[in-house]
Amino acid sequence: RTGARVERLPLARYTTLGVGGEAEVWFVSNGAQLAEAVEAPYRILGGGSNLVVADEGVPERVIRLTGPLAEADLTPDPALSSGETVVTGWVGGGVPLPGLIRKLQKLGLSNLEGTVGIPAQVGGAVWMNAGTRYGEMFDGLHTLEIVTPGGTRQVTPDDLAWGYRQSGIPRGHIVSRVRLRLRRSAPEEVLAKMDFADQARKGQPKMKTPGCAFKNPGGVSAGKLIDEAGLKGARVGGAMIAPEHANFIVNLGGASSADVHALLALIRERVGAPLELEYELWP
Ligand code: FAD
Ligand code: EPU
Repeated sequence: RTGARVERLPLARYTTLGVGGEAEVWFVSNGAQLAEAVEAPYRILGGGSNLVVADEGVPERVIRLTGPLAEADLTPDPALSSGETVVTGWVGGGVPLPGLIRKLQKLGLSNLEGTVGIPAQVGGAVWMNAGTRYGEMFDGLHTLEIVTPGGTRQVTPDDLAWGYRQSGIPRGHIVSRVRLRLRRSAPEEVLAKMDFADQARKGQPKMKTPGCAFKNPGGVSAGKLIDEAGLKGARVGGAMIAPEHANFIVNLGGASSADVHALLALIRERVGAPLELEYELWP
């Protein structure tokens, strides 16, 4: 055994929706522990900010990156940085994105400020290329380290078919660490861009939620479509379509995964246009 901490825990504690039953959680902090963790069927958990986990939990082990895999070395790599371009050391997939964005701002390092307000971990945000209208994760990536049961490899964004809310990395391939590609800028300038991007969140609900339920079809706001279908405020059990923004489902307290699934089905039934789920449903 490589010494990973393994514990049976309720996943509700690890999701922003606050829903989800138990699983065997593997807290891994280095490559050897990660290699051992992927020897049996597994899922990889990030910030839990895009997940609807079943009340029954999941049968697979759930991997969570901690320790050095949740730390960021933001020192510019002299061999890869030049002029205004800064390539950092390794940033662990388990690093919380909001804190990283604040640190980069203070250091006057630009490219990722558009992702302000996304309560993800770096690995999860990279895996789905999380973003806003003002920027996305792939604006600031240099190298990605990816772990699978077959081994560890490094890729660059050019190797991947990434786009709106997708990285091209297959589900289950673990983003263990990345190097960031940033641009030197004045801290005040980065802060101004962050504040601007953050304005777009004023209309988003403050309650427990996994973010937007559906991707925007063809650039149209899915929230607007759900709103136009008259569904704001619709409730099933402890879950509700947010009155503030119709693409958010919130947990009023005591929501079950079945409540959330019922609301997703209601939206699909009432909205004419085809909608692609952004949430990940476990299992
Ligand atoms: P999780 O929810 O833990 O997992 C999601 C998926 O990523 C799963 O498939 C999981 O297996 C996979 N994953 C997690 N970690 C890794 C890893 N290290 N390697 C490989 N795969 C991994 N999203 C946006 O794009 N833009 C927004 O503006 C936005 N705003 C939000 C606001 C709120 C209040 C909330 C709650 C969510 C918002 N989201 C937004 C949704 C969410 O933050 C993103 O989808 C984010 O990418 C999820 O990352 P995570 O680390 O929380 O992943
Ligand atoms: N609108 C409505 N009713 C609603 C919601 C929105 O009429 O219930 C209208 C708004 O008035 C506005 C337009 O639709 O005119 C767009 O709304 P908004 O600015 O909120 O943007 P969005 O397209 O709904 C996207 C992302 C968010 C991201 C924001 C801000 C998707 C699926 N959603 O929302 O990302 O935070 O832009 O950049 O791409 C997420 O992906 O989880 C997420 C929260």
